[in-house]
Amino acid sequence: GIDADPHALEIAQTRLADFGDRVKLVRGRYERVAEIVESVFFDNVAALLIDTDVSMDQLLGPVGRGRGFTHSRDEPLLMTLDPDQETTAASLLRDLSEGELLEVFGQVLRGGEAPKVVRAIVRERAEEPIERTGQFTRLLARALGRSGPALKKRISAAYLAMRLATNRDLTALRSGIEGAVEVLRPGGVLAVLTYQGLTHRVARRTLRELEGGSAGPARLIGAPQREARIEVLTRRPVRPSSAETERNAAARSAALFAARKL
Ligand SMILES: C[S@@+](CC[C@H](N)C(=O)[O-])C[C@H]1O[C@@H](n2cnc3c(N)ncnc32)[C@H](O)[C@@H]1O
Repeated sequence: GIDADPHALEIAQTRLADFGDRVKLVRGRYERVAEIVESVFFDNVAALLIDTDVSMDQLLGPVGRGRGFTHSRDEPLLMTLDPDQETTAASLLRDLSEGELLEVFGQVLRGGEAPKVVRAIVRERAEEPIERTGQFTRLLARALGRSGPALKKRISAAYLAMRLATNRDLTALRSGIEGAVEVLRPGGVLAVLTYQGLTHRVARRTLRELEGGSAGPARLIGAPQREARIEVLTRRPVRPSSAETERNAAARSAALFAARKL
């Protein structure tokens, strides 16, 4: 198992203790999966699962405390999966240009909301650095101008935008899938679990590209052909059954993609 967060690895170590030395845990980012697998594990990999995003332990449990993943507590605005990473949500809010901030929030917020949020950030940071979740949440509440559950949802969306940017989740997922396909043995299976629209889209597109075919719109005559490296096994991602979401409400948004290496 590979995880960027040493606290997540500690949890995994305890949960998997019964498997003894059949389990190897490595701290690292899954963009480096090919390099890590080759040096630490073995080649000839039969199956690989990329489980993306954050865990409920990180979001709301004790291992996430003090790390700024949630607006339900007032704490430093870090949002880093790897606690040693220098770029934090606070440093991005300080350093990104207005255009870059618009890109970050525009991916997740609805039209009109992103410019309001960005204007509020630019105004606030001219007065004082935005370094705590409490301060960021108050700023968002003022900028979004709603109340109750609707406001909570939009604040969660803005937090998601910052978490994705801080951890470079979208490019990480793409590179992770490409690296995984590299180290799988022919016939080996890759599974990818994603939990929200943007990562669903990256998984679907990256797998589709690795499946080969025309590199441009299909009707474009003469578009270069990509070599097929995988066969996608899930035409539509597998979603949890209602029995599963009853048992585990957090599974509601999950999507499982799978592919076989050719
Ligand atoms: C949904 S959780 C799943 C954790 C574990 N599979 C479990 O079931 O408990 C996703 C995990 O991926 C890790 N993660 C997210 N992006 C990562 C990346 N680019 N490289 C390495 N780990 C990452 C997070 O730290 C988190 O522990």
